[in-house]
Amino acid sequence: MNLKDLYIDYFVNLGHKQIPSAPVVPENDPSVLFNTAGMQPLIPYLMGQPHPYGTRLCDYQKCIRTNDLDEVGDTTHHTFFEMLGNWSLGDYFKDESITWSFNFLTKTLNIPKERLAVTVFAGNKDISFDKVSFDKWVSLGISEKRIAKTEDDNFWIAGETGPCGSDTEIFYFRSNDEIPEVFDPSDDRWVEIWNNVFMEYNKSSDGSISFLPKKNVDTGMGVERTTAILEGVNDNYLSSIWKDVIDLISEISNVKYEDNPKSMRIIADHIRTAVFISSDYAGIKPSNTDQGYILRRLIRRAIRHAFKLNIDINSDWEKRIASLIIDKYKKYYKELSDNEQVVYEVLKNEKEKFNKTLEKGIKEFDKIVNSLNSDTINKDLAFKLYDTYGFPIELTEELASERNLKVDTLGFKDKFREHQEKSRTASQGKFKGGLAGNSEIETKYHTATHLLNAALKQVVGSDVHQKGSNITVDRMRFDFSCDHKLTDEEKAKVEQLVNKWINESIDVKCTEMSKEDAIKSGAECMFIEKYPDIVTVYSIGDISKELCGGPHVKNTSEIGKFKIIKEEASSAGVRRIKAIISDE
Ligand code: ALA
Repeated sequence: MNLKDLYIDYFVNLGHKQIPSAPVVPENDPSVLFNTAGMQPLIPYLMGQPHPYGTRLCDYQKCIRTNDLDEVGDTTHHTFFEMLGNWSLGDYFKDESITWSFNFLTKTLNIPKERLAVTVFAGNKDISFDKVSFDKWVSLGISEKRIAKTEDDNFWIAGETGPCGSDTEIFYFRSNDEIPEVFDPSDDRWVEIWNNVFMEYNKSSDGSISFLPKKNVDTGMGVERTTAILEGVNDNYLSSIWKDVIDLISEISNVKYEDNPKSMRIIADHIRTAVFISSDYAGIKPSNTDQGYILRRLIRRAIRHAFKLNIDINSDWEKRIASLIIDKYKKYYKELSDNEQVVYEVLKNEKEKFNKTLEKGIKEFDKIVNSLNSDTINKDLAFKLYDTYGFPIELTEELASERNLKVDTLGFKDKFREHQEKSRTASQGKFKGGLAGNSEIETKYHTATHLLNAALKQVVGSDVHQKGSNITVDRMRFDFSCDHKLTDEEKAKVEQLVNKWINESIDVKCTEMSKEDAIKSGAECMFIEKYPDIVTVYSIGDISKELCGGPHVKNTSEIGKFKIIKEEASSAGVRRIKAIISDE
């Protein structure tokens, strides 16, 4: 049995219910792009809401962490990983949690306890030293010299606010050297394999800490790292999780792993993450914002490294790799079989898009480098590579660093913002122009715009986002992110849905709230940073909720009949709908 199955079996036998992995995109938390830990989808239950499966849960959760995306290429970093977790929601606490972790490691996985060491919370001015955990480890036979006490490293919270608590982390000595008697957590031969967090507090946005209604346990163990340890390899990509993927890349490229491990790891990792993002039921597509941008960066970076390995980019190399990954994981994640074709399409489309400009872009890059008379690629050149050749800034940075050059990334970001600002002001200017009269018909169009936005999300996908809007007395125009031309069926469905909501005579409500609460409540908005601290949120039943200055009709029945008159491309990845409303 592999680690995942052993783990789930073990905790199920201890009365835990296995829960399915949540989607990679958090369902109710707009503050993060992806789930980064097993506990994230469980936050409401850690805060006190009863969980339908009871008080003992376990799972393997798809996690994505992209803050280290550019580190991928070494032996340990991955953008996607699976986190094993077991939870007590007000059920057992430190004693059982530590005992079971210890037994799983030493009895089920047969890790000698001499190779283990732990850290426990040292205490600070608010919360005292975690003596209970310390004593428990001693009673299990961990020498006191192998228990380190830390303050900051032993208090865990996901982000800034929410459930949190002291933790105890378990380390494994991953080296053939003699094991030091005294454990030093900063010695990197010791690697952390499991974290048991005792979540009994809640941290509020003002920084204050209060007790949660119940004492919970949240644990997390990374599958990739622990598998590599159990298999005794010093490079994660040589474990059974990756070996066949690496072999396939080697076969496709005709390059030996030892000759370019970095590019092979990047391709393996990025394609796997792209497979998991694009197969997710959230329906993410490559784009220039949010999750879509990460997906785009991953695919483009993988392609760039395939290019380095002299892989024929036009062949179906990416599909072969994706297909192997799907085969390896589909037993655990049904979405992989359900969305297999979607995955291949996303990869192929993005590849074709990027491949058109990649070679020219690299030539342009080399030209830029040859003509440089400093060691920095300036913001204008970086912007040109982005705008004309589709090079994510991170790709320009990577190419530059390979040649010991720097990039004026801050300058690029300013320029990028300026560029966005210009298009925004342009569209807002028109928007304002339209609003100046605040005529009745324009007010109706405003509300119809919110309904259209909501209908597109339902029909085309939740990843549709507004990219622009323009209203005149004659028509509305709405730009939105979408990677395909809408089908006649989609257009008809959108139109029907908007008219259905109009016929349902739904009240339009306007509420004032803090920007923070508005985001938390899941309200849509195009340029969050441009809004003041107190914002108005317009809700139409439970169909739509958007930050907006208005004005809007009081009830959808006032709008009239909605009709799409045109659907066309606006720019790459952005479609445009023109629609009218009439009195009939
Ligand atoms: N939530 C804890 C972690 O991610 C277990 O480390």
